[in-house]
Amino acid sequence: MPLATSGRIAVEVPSTSANLASGFDIVAVAHNAFYDRVEVSVVGEGYSKIKLKIEGKYANEVPADAEKNAVTIPVLRFLDVVGEKLNLEIKLHKNIPPGKGLGSSGASSVGGLAGLNRILGEPLEYRDLLDIAAEGERLVAGSKHYDNVAASLLGGFVMVDMDDSGSLKDVYKISNGERFRFLLIIPEIDLPKHKTKYSRGLIPQEVPLRNHIRNSIYLSLLIYGIATGKPEIAGKGFNDVIVEPAREVLVPLYRIVKKEILKAGGYGVAISGAGPSIIALVDPGSIEPIEGRVHEIYRKHGYRVRTIRCRPSRGAIDLAKP
Ligand code: HSE
Repeated sequence: MPLATSGRIAVEVPSTSANLASGFDIVAVAHNAFYDRVEVSVVGEGYSKIKLKIEGKYANEVPADAEKNAVTIPVLRFLDVVGEKLNLEIKLHKNIPPGKGLGSSGASSVGGLAGLNRILGEPLEYRDLLDIAAEGERLVAGSKHYDNVAASLLGGFVMVDMDDSGSLKDVYKISNGERFRFLLIIPEIDLPKHKTKYSRGLIPQEVPLRNHIRNSIYLSLLIYGIATGKPEIAGKGFNDVIVEPAREVLVPLYRIVKKEILKAGGYGVAISGAGPSIIALVDPGSIEPIEGRVHEIYRKHGYRVRTIRCRPSRGAIDLAKP
């Protein structure tokens, strides 16, 4: 089939929380807290070039250079893979706060790829798109991971299967968590540059067998709880004796906040991605007192914090109107 060489499409891509504690690099969820909007237009052909325009609340917090931005690098790779030389205009509405552990760069990558794929008549399937998007994550985070980009693309809860070299085998959607409710807690702090890479460096490379067993129990509870639509069981899986203890130094007040949310009736609390945001799985009935308590704790310790009530979102595959 000949590839289309003109067209315009807009994609809205949700923010995500990866890991959910015991699901490090494996489980993630897309949420309706924030959406990047990516508009892709084909304006010519013969050579590959991208004119990038960035708008939105966080426009000044991401590179304006098409050679360095998370939305454009994967698109150039996509063109290489399908052997097309196209002149593109990409408008990125950067609405997901970068550097907060909310899958911001992954969402931008997914938006450009999903949009261009649709314009070109879908020459690539979702696994190819995720492979290219994860390359973008490698540039940002220093190693390939698929969790954020898989959730952004496919929506809801996802589970990633990889081979021994860390390459994608497949992604599975975990159904039945659609009615879950979250409270996102976003502390306003400065983190080290290349935070994800830095925080991956804190994780132990070898673990005692007892920790492996403990985390396997947590991961089983997490997936079982989502798949059966039981947040009270999934919440027990929001625990981790390997990665979180190594990383929590980067998340202010993490232990205190986790303890207080659980005391106030929350089902589970985890660092969102590499932090510093926190995701709490909560009952809608207890969200208000929990939110109040969180603000109280941060205020008392002199931090500014933002909280967002949200739920699982559809993925980027459902396109927005141009
Ligand atoms: N699984 C990745 C990590 C997600 O925790 O390093 C980064 O957002």
